[in-house]
Amino acid sequence: MSHDEKTFEPLDVPVNPKDKEFCLSFDQKDVEGYKEFFDKYGFVVIRNVLTESEVDDTVDEIWNEAKPASRNDPNTWNSKYNWPGSDSIGIFGSSSCKGKFAIKNRIKPVMYEIYKNIIGRPDLWVSFDRFGVMKPTKQVTLANGTKRDFPEYKSKEKWLHWDMNPFKITDKDLNVEQSDGGESEMTEKDFSEMFFICERNGVVGGYKRVQGLVALTDATEEDGGFLTIPGFTNNLQQWSKFHQTTQVGKEISKTADFIKVPEGDPMNKQAKKITVRSGSLLIWDSRQPHCNFSNNSDKFRMVQYIKMFPARNEKDVKYAEFVRLRREKMNGYIERLKSESGDPLHLDNLSRKLLGLDSWY
Ligand SMILES: [Fe+2]
Repeated sequence: MSHDEKTFEPLDVPVNPKDKEFCLSFDQKDVEGYKEFFDKYGFVVIRNVLTESEVDDTVDEIWNEAKPASRNDPNTWNSKYNWPGSDSIGIFGSSSCKGKFAIKNRIKPVMYEIYKNIIGRPDLWVSFDRFGVMKPTKQVTLANGTKRDFPEYKSKEKWLHWDMNPFKITDKDLNVEQSDGGESEMTEKDFSEMFFICERNGVVGGYKRVQGLVALTDATEEDGGFLTIPGFTNNLQQWSKFHQTTQVGKEISKTADFIKVPEGDPMNKQAKKITVRSGSLLIWDSRQPHCNFSNNSDKFRMVQYIKMFPARNEKDVKYAEFVRLRREKMNGYIERLKSESGDPLHLDNLSRKLLGLDSWY
């Protein structure tokens, strides 16, 4: 069967029966429910993964990093007041977040349980990724109590992409690693901020690759949020087969690890807004084309990007040096936090394994 945009229809996303403004979400105990939804739609939302106070603490941490911009003065939410860059795509700066609460969120046991169930294996590492922040753009309350629009704070409307190459992977490759993304060759200087932010994007095959975010605000269709084509993952093989010889296929690099959906591709019209409650974890299959859509409200949309992926085994001689260097870098992040604020993490065995400080093997 060949793929044809006319015959592929994105799935309609069900809403929460008692909270209709938001997409259907699952309780963390409903493992079969969320796994089944994920397999069908290519993403899933699990609610109440962070508590209200964990969300509040994390949001405070973001504001601390935004200084000297002031929380109550929208006129300061820009580069003149050192507001971190990358906000045109809804991303908060170009460094991973390394504060106490950001790290606590990453190593929270429920986070691990959900990723373990979705990926289907226990030996996981957690990513060190960034916050996503979209500023309010409509009728924003100023420090003096009046309101005005901030169109200059609006992020890009649509930039559907994959953080992998759709031509490189098919269903049957998921269990066969074809490329280690250069990890076995890495040296000390390769362990940059961007390495941790994009970790594992260059690896092809070997496991079910997923990405995720935890919502730090409610995100309705007006507030900005996650955009994807529901059910696309199950269509990816037909899509890539069809586009081997088309103009769209020719426009897409067969080797890069970040691929933007071409502007003219009808797929752009098939994307749907995924609305989530604060504290929810949204996980998507990396084969889903995705992006964020922009904010048209008077409220912030904030998230923390958190993903997990299989650890490397240092007993495999190919990865021994890679694991050692990664551990050294990660240990540096944890030690810096300790020197700034005592020992706020109290890392247990699971946390140490998730961070890569101790071995799973
Ligand atoms: Fe992405």
